Amino acid sequence: MKREWGLGLLGALGLGFIAVRVNGKLRPKPMPVQIEQFFLTNPLRVSYFGPRDALRLAGNLEGLRVLEIGTGVGVILEEIAKRVGEGGQAFGVDIQSDAVAKTEQRLSQHGLMSRTGLATANALEMPWTDGSMDRVIMVAMLGEIPTSHRVEALKEAGRVLNRDGKLVITEFWPDPHFIALPKMVRLLRQAGFSIVDVYQKPLLYSISAKKEGQVV
Ligand SMILES: C[S@@+](CC[C@H](N)C(=O)[O-])C[C@H]1O[C@@H](n2cnc3c(N)ncnc32)[C@H](O)[C@@H]1O
Repeated sequence: MKREWGLGLLGALGLGFIAVRVNGKLRPKPMPVQIEQFFLTNPLRVSYFGPRDALRLAGNLEGLRVLEIGTGVGVILEEIAKRVGEGGQAFGVDIQSDAVAKTEQRLSQHGLMSRTGLATANALEMPWTDGSMDRVIMVAMLGEIPTSHRVEALKEAGRVLNRDGKLVITEFWPDPHFIALPKMVRLLRQAGFSIVDVYQKPLLYSISAKKEGQVV
């Protein structure tokens, strides 16, 4: 009897996961901030799917201007702001004002707001000038943008990157909006990027890219 209950529970969890994943694929939309707070700040996420791997291909950030698109509650941006140091600047944008407020709260608690600029805006139309960023970081966010606008979002990231700038995208599974690596490579090429490097470990990859025509 216990075994049947166990199998039933496992089956229900499996079906629930498939339903969330299919819904995420068919109707991509931003994850509500309360859910983000739970999933993105828990210790497993922070240690295995967190800033260390998301920023691995970004190189030394000290003194740079680094933008994170889709900050959520600020887990990655907090680390970016630490790494740019006093001579650099961290920027973050999210379409949800609640997420921006949570990010501001988090960075304030760590005394990092003096080197941080935040905006509530759509990744398709960001309030920064052309070529103003050295690095653009996107973690588990591109899949939340409707399929038909993903190349446009990458082009917008390319617009704010400077000539030698680098875009770093990290995706992990089982994020319901996960984009597989071959698809990501195609999207980046369509948006005018060339691939610089790829890092992979079980359930996660990170890819760095430069605008075509740049010397790598
Ligand atoms: C899953 S969260 C990831 C948060 C953060 N990057 C992290 O890894 O901790 C994705 C975030 O992207 C934001 N987002 C989704 N679509 C967006 C858009 N079109 N423009 C800006 N932000 C967007 C969502 O509001 C959400 O906060």
